[in-house]
Amino acid sequence: MLGNFEYCNPTKLYFGEDSLDYLNTELPKYGANVVLIYGGGSIKKNGIYDDVCRILKENGKNVAEISGVMPNPTLAKLYEGVEIARNHQADLLLAVGGGSVCDYAKAVSVSVNCEEDPWEKYYVRFEEPECETLPVGCVLTMVGTGSEMNAGAVITNHETKQKIGHVFADEKIMPRFAVLNPGYTLTLPHYQMVSGIYDIFNHICEQYFSGEDDNTSDYISEGLMRSLLHSSRIANQNPQDYEARSNIMWTATWALNTLVAKGKTTDWMVHMLGQSVGAYTNATHGMTLAAVSLPYYRHIMPYGLKKFRRFAVNVWDIDPAGKSDEQIAEEGLKAMESWMKELGLVMNISDLGATEEMLEGITDGTLVMTGGYKVLERDEILQIFRESMKKE
Ligand code: NZQ
Ligand code: ZN
Repeated sequence: MLGNFEYCNPTKLYFGEDSLDYLNTELPKYGANVVLIYGGGSIKKNGIYDDVCRILKENGKNVAEISGVMPNPTLAKLYEGVEIARNHQADLLLAVGGGSVCDYAKAVSVSVNCEEDPWEKYYVRFEEPECETLPVGCVLTMVGTGSEMNAGAVITNHETKQKIGHVFADEKIMPRFAVLNPGYTLTLPHYQMVSGIYDIFNHICEQYFSGEDDNTSDYISEGLMRSLLHSSRIANQNPQDYEARSNIMWTATWALNTLVAKGKTTDWMVHMLGQSVGAYTNATHGMTLAAVSLPYYRHIMPYGLKKFRRFAVNVWDIDPAGKSDEQIAEEGLKAMESWMKELGLVMNISDLGATEEMLEGITDGTLVMTGGYKVLERDEILQIFRESMKKE
């Protein structure tokens, strides 16, 4: 551990089957005007909406709604929500949904009192808010992003074909509280469940695959990955297994609540590649990551060989005896590939709707990060996308 860092995570979590009751503890801390934010209707089908509305009413809240927040929330939708929150003079934004709804609530929070265009300020110039922001609370229904306990907010601009995430520097942008009931995730379609599982796994990888130092964060990451592999196999066989789903939910939160990034430079290139694919295809986030991961990791493996060897042995139980570092590292990636296929993840970007004609644009839309084992050149990015197009 060589880094100098700060660590503060102020999000209060309520976990478990009875966690929604704690809305009664949280709501009195805020003013009367609440904006309830949710997606395309899953919470109405599974009854969460009714339960949340009942508790809001019992607490005397004056509620306005922003509904129809889509997966990969758009800039146009952000503008719409900002108007609703302004008109309602919101005291609290209550997000009920997955990462898209939670991210969106944070984007509204920093935009309501912002006099400039939020896209230009936060997603082009990457500035921090200078205005008052609104508190966000979150009732999580889809597991994967870690948005319930971080300051990230990803927005897609369809006009410019860009999908960009801003991780705000100020921890006050993190949700003030989050309700995590694993039972809420049981109605997720299998596709969303496994997509979320891969998102979690990749968040850990993005932080793990950087640095050469001996770092406590890497040992925590290996433990989280092992737990996730175990629980994901159980959940894949039996999605109704509450114990597995609860472990997956908890792992997701720890995978991206800033802890395992401490003392590390972090990579995040899989997310940059995946997000650019997402901007062109609107594909499900975790699947975009799955589809580009193996070509990317095979490309950078020689530059971070020691860590890929460690990953193979400590996460995938590859027996190193009598093998070269390259062989061990490659066996680790093969084990990862077979786990991905076992879950039924999408393994190439063609199946997500990417076409040959899009590749130049997707390449240009990929932000290049510098914290991993290899800073990619443009032609390397294009080559990784070409590899990612291939179907077996
Ligand atoms: O809209 P509804 O009808 O609610 O349906 C949603 C949506 O279609 C459905 N769903 C959610 N909970 C459900 C459910 N269906 C049945 N039962 C339930 N309990 O699932 C679909 C996907 O939801 P979404 O919120 O889009 O998924 P996810 O949590 O994966 O969020 C994806 C967004 O988060 C961003 C992604 O880029 C993407 O925009 N990310 C945010 C991050 C962060 N804040 O740190 C990091 C991530 O890397 C990621 O980039
Ligand atoms: Zn992600």
